[in-house]
Amino acid sequence: MKIALMVIIGYLLGSIPSGVWIGKVFFKKDVRDFGSGNSGTTNTFRVLGKKAGIAVLLMDILKGTLATSLPLFFDSSINPLWIGLSAVMGHTFPLFAKFKGGKAVATSAGMLLGYNPLFFLFSATIFVITLLLTSMVSLASMISAVLITLSTIILPFVWPAILPEFNWLLTLIACGLTVFIFIRHKENIVRIKNGTENRVPFGLNKAK
Ligand code: G3P
Repeated sequence: MKIALMVIIGYLLGSIPSGVWIGKVFFKKDVRDFGSGNSGTTNTFRVLGKKAGIAVLLMDILKGTLATSLPLFFDSSINPLWIGLSAVMGHTFPLFAKFKGGKAVATSAGMLLGYNPLFFLFSATIFVITLLLTSMVSLASMISAVLITLSTIILPFVWPAILPEFNWLLTLIACGLTVFIFIRHKENIVRIKNGTENRVPFGLNKAK
């Protein structure tokens, strides 16, 4: 029973459509009607600017972190990753925004932060490096998802200070989320292939 309740709360937390609400309340715009049509951090930066983008990034990370922390308060015998995952599903298919949500990246990062802050820092470093190399948030997100999944297998052997032991559930969820993140980026993949994907104004391949 407790796990069902936590999964529901996690899903509802994830369903808070930060990009959509910030856009509608402060800018009178639905961010999904502009740019890439996504409601996540990247499109919010693109459409509504830096302040809104940072706010959405922090809120979307926080949703995953709070959900993943729920078992600490209610029942620590439940693996927090399941509850974090329900927040990622809420973020992607939000109840409060007609099920049209983000691409699962920031809330998955929040799940990692709630699960293991050191592993989150390691993963965030991978993301920043790939973003600087590619200058494309979408490509950096997909490459990072693959590298982070591989890290869940390798780190316990080579850098146990970050991930002390191999956790099959973490690896399984990371694999599933990687596939899911690729599926959610299918339009980006077409644009990357065509050379028309949006680029950020910094890094090795920055927008001209
Ligand atoms: O997390 C979403 C990001 O990877 C891509 O966003 O708006 O460029 O499709 P966008």
